[in-house]
Amino acid sequence: MLVLGIESSCDETAASVVSDGVKILSNVIASQVNIHSRYGGVVPEVASRHHIEAIIPVIGEALKGAGVSIGDIEGIAVTRGPGLIGSLLVGVSVAKSIAFARNLPCVGVNHIAGHIGALFLIENVPAFPFVSLVVSGGHTHIYKVDNYDRFTLLGQTRDDAAGEAFDKAAKMMNLGYPGGVIIDTMAKKGDPGKIDFPRAMKKSTDFSFSGLKTALLNYLKTLNHFPGQEDICDIAASFQDAIVDVLVEKTLRAAEESCISRVALSGGVASNTRLRKVFMEESAKKGIELFIPPPLLCTDNAAMIAAIGSQYLEKGISDALDMNAVSRWPLGSGR
Ligand code: KG4
Ligand code: ZN
Repeated sequence: MLVLGIESSCDETAASVVSDGVKILSNVIASQVNIHSRYGGVVPEVASRHHIEAIIPVIGEALKGAGVSIGDIEGIAVTRGPGLIGSLLVGVSVAKSIAFARNLPCVGVNHIAGHIGALFLIENVPAFPFVSLVVSGGHTHIYKVDNYDRFTLLGQTRDDAAGEAFDKAAKMMNLGYPGGVIIDTMAKKGDPGKIDFPRAMKKSTDFSFSGLKTALLNYLKTLNHFPGQEDICDIAASFQDAIVDVLVEKTLRAAEESCISRVALSGGVASNTRLRKVFMEESAKKGIELFIPPPLLCTDNAAMIAAIGSQYLEKGISDALDMNAVSRWPLGSGR
């Protein structure tokens, strides 16, 4: 089955053509990062307007890149939520319009399920059940994944998401937006043992990153000189390690407590170099099999939405044309 995936939940306008839910024929992503970086974060109203401008050309490019025409497409999968409502509405409206015009089935996909869906697009697909950490700008959740549509929450952040913590830390140090990639790069030149940042809620599989953010703010205040390049690299490395340590430890513990020996990572922060390395080392020590998509499938894309949507569409499940976008949609709370 040839499925067109559409994703517009935040600041990336994306479209992809996926065959049989596993083979990516095209994966086009138009990023608005340069537009939002001058504001230090995503401005929802600006994001919606740019999605409107980009969505049709992006879909056209995805079809062209896959070497197919719209007449070849057999179903549409679109991110319905969670995300910025104005941004989601653009993707959902376009998906429903194409479905109506072409008489195609259209299914709304949960964005977090989509991030997990990226794992079905890699060569070595994890068998069910597996434990998945979804770690992005809006989510830090651990799920037990029993099937394409069966997710049990094992742990989640009580405040900020890990990606949000990276972005806020970069903002505090005037490093630019989005902060995750910048901190990842600077941390490579820094000493992770230089500052002892807190690791919160050690015994739980839930996360908390707000104390870490405050600890960084306090550290910057107590520094009796303007931080130079070397200081910033040490801070970045120490801050990054505080996040990586808890993500790795809690996810592997959640897997052990569930007696599951397969662990997967997804979401934008899963492209972090240090996180991937530490996860590989620690899972190997524990005899846990680790699955991580390539960085391009970790950050927001439409191939992951098509991967999950294909599973529904192939079973004949689709949504009516009165389907609407939803800003909040906890995974596992139904369709
Ligand atoms: O999954 P994603 O593209 O969008 C959301 O659904 O949120 O994730 C974006 C988040 C941002 O917070 C960004 O700073 C973070 O992922 N991120 C990273 C890296 N690349 C992206 N964080 C740490 N290291 C990276 N290499
Ligand atoms: Zn995302």
